[in-house]
Amino acid sequence: MAPQAEAEAQAQDSQDTAQIRVGDRTLDLPVIQGTEGEMAVDIGALRKETGYITMDPGFGNTGACRSAITFIDGEKGILRYRGYRIEDLAEQSTFLETAWLLIHGELPTKTELDDFVEDVTKHTMLNESFRKFMDALPRDAHPMPMCAATVGALTTFYQQPESEESIRQSIIRLIAKMPTIAAYAYKHSLGQPFIYPRNDFDYSSNLIHMMFATPCAPYEVDPVVAKAMDALFILHADHEQNCSTSTVRLVGSSMANLYASISAGISALWGSLHGGANQKVVEMFEAIERGGGDPEAYIARAKDPDDPTRLMGFGHRVYKNYDPRAKYLKEACRQVLDRLDVSDKLLEIAQGLEEITLRDPYFVDRKLYPNVDFYSGVIYRALGIPVDAFTVMFAIGRLPGWIAQWLEMRHDPDFRIGRPRQVYTGANERDYVGMDAR
Ligand code: ACO
Repeated sequence: MAPQAEAEAQAQDSQDTAQIRVGDRTLDLPVIQGTEGEMAVDIGALRKETGYITMDPGFGNTGACRSAITFIDGEKGILRYRGYRIEDLAEQSTFLETAWLLIHGELPTKTELDDFVEDVTKHTMLNESFRKFMDALPRDAHPMPMCAATVGALTTFYQQPESEESIRQSIIRLIAKMPTIAAYAYKHSLGQPFIYPRNDFDYSSNLIHMMFATPCAPYEVDPVVAKAMDALFILHADHEQNCSTSTVRLVGSSMANLYASISAGISALWGSLHGGANQKVVEMFEAIERGGGDPEAYIARAKDPDDPTRLMGFGHRVYKNYDPRAKYLKEACRQVLDRLDVSDKLLEIAQGLEEITLRDPYFVDRKLYPNVDFYSGVIYRALGIPVDAFTVMFAIGRLPGWIAQWLEMRHDPDFRIGRPRQVYTGANERDYVGMDAR
């Protein structure tokens, strides 16, 4: 049996049941066990049998699917894609190989990878109409909604009825065109001419070329920068059922196509509590630097229950230990700054801030540690990426994860449209009152 199939079979094995008592009824509910030992109670029968639903705002305790893509142990700080440690992938794989792994479940053979890379490389251009489309947006538009709008608009160019082949083509187009869209959005904000993709560059080098070259000056892509960018994309490539991925699944569950679902995922990622935090982190460091470099005042505000300020890049719904991506990025950050011979006061501020919080009972008791966004922004800055575009870099990285999750959902034997329930707390039935009587 292939490792994937073996793991899936193992995941079905639990003979246990859980009991729930509602009023005078006791219900036996099936227990599901994952391949890494996580347990879940299947409450599917609860409402049918008792009329009750479960309540879990923010879905902190609700499993929405079975998934064989990404494993996280938030207590131990472990993250694996298809069983492979992300640290190994970031060191030894490439972003496109990792994308293949996430989407297909196994590492590619050499031929599979060569064909995939060639396919992606050949589809990097955007239809020329997109220049007018993006030009019509204001110069100061944030690149995230520009990307969401453009990815959504791809649907209007590729209208084939959905089939396995059309989905395969959509996957190639999305992965190929995302960097072009991101670079176009950046060039638009500068008022500079768009730079066309180069098929002789690898994925990350091509993105850097499109962002920083101009028609009047050649631009030499630094291989150190391209390698760091590729590793960043790998570290962001999937993170199981987070806000944007759940959005992609929910939108896709209505049978909306891949472009529409991914466009919704980009919008969800933009929020400052999710991917948008990487921009907010650097803005926070800059604010601390402007205030003289002492983070204590900022930390005091983040701890004050009456102040909505949060320490950006800190805390995580799942990690109650150091986020393994942040651990990797902290070291990578130092290495990249050294290699590029850049000194950045913000790295000192980040490290100082982290040191204080690791000793502060507020953060220790709540198990709040740096997350992926805490150090990624400092690296992006060193690589020359503008702050506004940080979350776009995250979106490029997360794309294969969204695609893999969308595909998995569509092939799930338990597939149903996503549709949470609610407990209604509004007015009881009442008669309409005409304007004169109000
Ligand atoms: N700064 C200060 N206090 C915090 C922070 C923070 N960054 N994060 C959580 N807390 C506190 C909360 O106030 C709460 O305290 P309380 O128990 O006294 O009320 C406690 O820690 C638990 O926090 P919740 O909000 O319940 O945690 P939740 O799982 O809902 O939120 C989240 C997780 C959104 C990531 C949160 O930690 C946060 O807002 N962090 C800052 C934004 C950020 O960095 N987001 C990126 C996350 S990674 C990603 O999406 C790619």
